Amino acid sequence: MSELPRVYATRHLPGGALGRLGERTRLDVWPEPGGPGPEVLARAAREADGLLCLLTDRVDAPLIAACPRLRAISSVSVGVDHIDLAAAGASGIPVGYTPGVLTEATADLAWALLLAAARRIPEAERWLRDGSWIPKLRWEPDLLLGRELHGATLGIIGLGAIGCAVARRARGFGMRILGWSRSLHPEASELGVEQTRLERVLAEADFVSVHVALAAETRSLLDAGALARMKPDAVLINTARGGVVDERALVEALRSGRLGGAALDVFEEEPLPTSSPLLELPNVVLAPHLGSATFETRARMADLAVENLLAGLEGRPMAHCANPEVEERR
Ligand code: DGY
Repeated sequence: MSELPRVYATRHLPGGALGRLGERTRLDVWPEPGGPGPEVLARAAREADGLLCLLTDRVDAPLIAACPRLRAISSVSVGVDHIDLAAAGASGIPVGYTPGVLTEATADLAWALLLAAARRIPEAERWLRDGSWIPKLRWEPDLLLGRELHGATLGIIGLGAIGCAVARRARGFGMRILGWSRSLHPEASELGVEQTRLERVLAEADFVSVHVALAAETRSLLDAGALARMKPDAVLINTARGGVVDERALVEALRSGRLGGAALDVFEEEPLPTSSPLLELPNVVLAPHLGSATFETRARMADLAVENLLAGLEGRPMAHCANPEVEERR
């Protein structure tokens, strides 16, 4: 009987997926939160046939080149900007990822942030907890006024599965929806999204929600120039990747009142440094990268990532492969 493949997993995962993986492989799991760190990861991956990683593990070209046994990589994420796909491809290693299973959870979170920013929920809660809700201010006509969604325009940047799920929710709120993607998406049009130029989305939207993957073409897509095109009271929501927005330019726009607010789940540097000026701005709602953070979704992501890894190790096509040309070449 042939030896079981060796797998290194950089984190414990919710649900039973790792248990199943352990039945079909020789599995070694990094035991602590935070992952193994680059040196330990490089050492462990060198011995592995399969690598199960997270978006916080950098799987770059030098690491891949130093792993002669590696036959499959699988990330518990839809984003794969932490993996050098070209290097993996050149070494014939398929890279699995987990689209689809986190679509609704991420759209929910985008929507939660949008509502929180529009109705100033975190600011209102801080105010109440601070003891500012005194009898004299029991119900003031101009207290903590927010923005109405009905009839407002939502701009969606990136009309893939998550962008479309956000559009579906926007219909229920009676919003007009403009959208931009690098290619046309018929499904988005069926949902009532008017697909148009990025400049027009930015200029006309009251709320702009970002849903593009981070790649060379989308890095700093929303730079100072793009942010300057937005309405001065518009709100930017980002649940995609921090690198899509120029954070320094965003802070500048928010500080100077050229932009109404922002609701951010992702940042150029994560965790968000405690020195970040974003923490000082009252018109910003912040979350610590929680887009897919529901019990159900995280278990589905783990299941799919394990399925992808086993398929890669067993020479079968992965359910979701980020560099499918590798499988086509086989
Ligand atoms: C991903 O999967 O890429 C998200 O950012 C986290 O779930």
